[in-house]
Amino acid sequence: MGGGDSDIAPHPEKIKIVATCLAVAVGISLLGFYLKSGDEWRSNWSLSLNKKKKKKPIRVYMDGCFDMMHYGHCNALRQARALGDQLVVGVVSDAEIIANKGPPVTPLHERMIMVNAVKWVDEVISDAPYAITEDFMKKLFDEYNIDYIIHGDDPCVLPDGTDAYALAKKAGRYKQIKRTEGVSSTDIVERSISDSHNHSSLQRQFSHGHSQKFEAGGSGTITRVSHFLPTSRRIVQFSNGKGPGDDARIVYIDGAFDLFHAGHVEILRVARALGDFLLVGIHNDQTVSWI
Ligand code: CTP
Repeated sequence: MGGGDSDIAPHPEKIKIVATCLAVAVGISLLGFYLKSGDEWRSNWSLSLNKKKKKKPIRVYMDGCFDMMHYGHCNALRQARALGDQLVVGVVSDAEIIANKGPPVTPLHERMIMVNAVKWVDEVISDAPYAITEDFMKKLFDEYNIDYIIHGDDPCVLPDGTDAYALAKKAGRYKQIKRTEGVSSTDIVERSISDSHNHSSLQRQFSHGHSQKFEAGGSGTITRVSHFLPTSRRIVQFSNGKGPGDDARIVYIDGAFDLFHAGHVEILRVARALGDFLLVGIHNDQTVSWI
């Protein structure tokens, strides 16, 4: 994100989007938009450097459910990409998620759209397994030329109690990134349930002609709790630092972008295609609360 919270610099072919669900505590998703061209340039540049040095690019693999994709997922992909030259992401199948941790909220095809839209992602594999099996690891190394398999520093345990990345660790091909504290899909689901409950009670109040004051700790209060702190340093890590050029056609779109999903990705893609630079306005929490 640049000076505004969300901006997109010009892009000739395809937009890459970083969806960052920030400040979900108060129900707002803050988004960052970027040019694929910047990444392509960086990737081409690093590839040509590699060519000169006759070195093959380092290809890293990260897998995950990426259910109700949020800022923590984007930050994980950002860190994974920084460990290599090309990032391949495996999106776990619905069946594998059901077998290992319960049904996902968003189906595979929507999770694919979200992951594919992140600017640090070079390739996406659908229907990836939840655990790194012997066969799949061989496929990653032989067919996808993967050098390292990456996961956050939270334990990923299978129903039988074993480590899902044990084989990759044993092969010396495992690397870890720091998990982003304070944001998780489970947390988002819990807050959504809490919010929808509060929303219904709000509607009931209005239908009975009452207004409502929101006070901390009182009955009928809105209780949205997030532990995520978007520091300016962290936000800058997502920025491409670009603004519109002098003759740019600037398109503006606004919205709540709460629980950022595949439909948001699509509308932003369409809006971006209408000009050279997309500026996104994100409604504040008070506005969102009263819609
Ligand atoms: N991840 C992260 N920070 C978070 C959430 C996830 O770094 N706050 C990382 C995970 O460690 C993993 C990748 O994102 O490497 C994909 O995570 P995923 O499989 O979607 O599941 P969870 O780890 O369970 O994430 P969540 O609790 O949000 O569902």
